[in-house]
Amino acid sequence: MDVAVLTIFPEMFGPFWSHGIVRRAIEGGHLKTDAVDIRDFTEDRHKVTDDRPYGGGCGMVMKPEPLAKALGALKERKPEAVSLLMTPQGRPFSQKTAAELAGRQGLIFICGRYEGVDERIVEQYVDDEISIGDYVLTGGELAAMVVIDAVVRLMPGVLGGENSAAFDSFADDLIEHAHYTRPRVFEGRSVPDVLISGDHAAIAKWRLEGALIRTFLKRPDLLANRKFTAQEIEILKKWSKELEELIQVQSARCLDSLSGR
Ligand code: 6GU
Repeated sequence: MDVAVLTIFPEMFGPFWSHGIVRRAIEGGHLKTDAVDIRDFTEDRHKVTDDRPYGGGCGMVMKPEPLAKALGALKERKPEAVSLLMTPQGRPFSQKTAAELAGRQGLIFICGRYEGVDERIVEQYVDDEISIGDYVLTGGELAAMVVIDAVVRLMPGVLGGENSAAFDSFADDLIEHAHYTRPRVFEGRSVPDVLISGDHAAIAKWRLEGALIRTFLKRPDLLANRKFTAQEIEILKKWSKELEELIQVQSARCLDSLSGR
């Protein structure tokens, strides 16, 4: 995959390209990266990239000419690339969007600064607008890194265990089960016995139960639209039964204490 980032701070990306999975993807030939300085496409002596808004108001707007020149050059070199504007007004980024983008040949990230970019750039050059959440960043650079990180690890061949991304939180709309490593006892707390049992079916079931209950407790919204499997229904019914038994015992005790027994 070809990734180009349009930014006035290309130096921010040096450390990002040179660590962890992103670095490995580049070294493995899966990823080609380019942080393009928008200033290189200005034509004035001071390399100005922003200007005051028409109609007045505070804040500055990114000038259209340097962005158009940069995008024109990039799109000519990589006609198949999609251009993404990083903006809090964009489509909310999700694991699903990451998977979509991971299938593309090329991505061009436009990192706005200030109040935003001239609307004519959005109309003429932008294929999609992406937001990474409901808060405002001072620029799109960190958001672009978030998106690139999430996309790169989904590209075939990038992660070690070929299917480890398939087991991620959100890959199947569930939060992941708990993880443990050595030592077996840490600060008096033991690793659950089932994980040491060697019983792979039991471990898989324990993990699914853990994923379900964690999702139920931490992100119930994720379950609302879920199509449960037969095994998941079975687990939910078991909990429901256990809860009902607990409630029955407790309410019996409550009645007993009211009647003075
Ligand atoms: Cl993509 N850009 C900026 N500037 N702020 C954001 C964002 C993006 N996503 C959330 N806030």
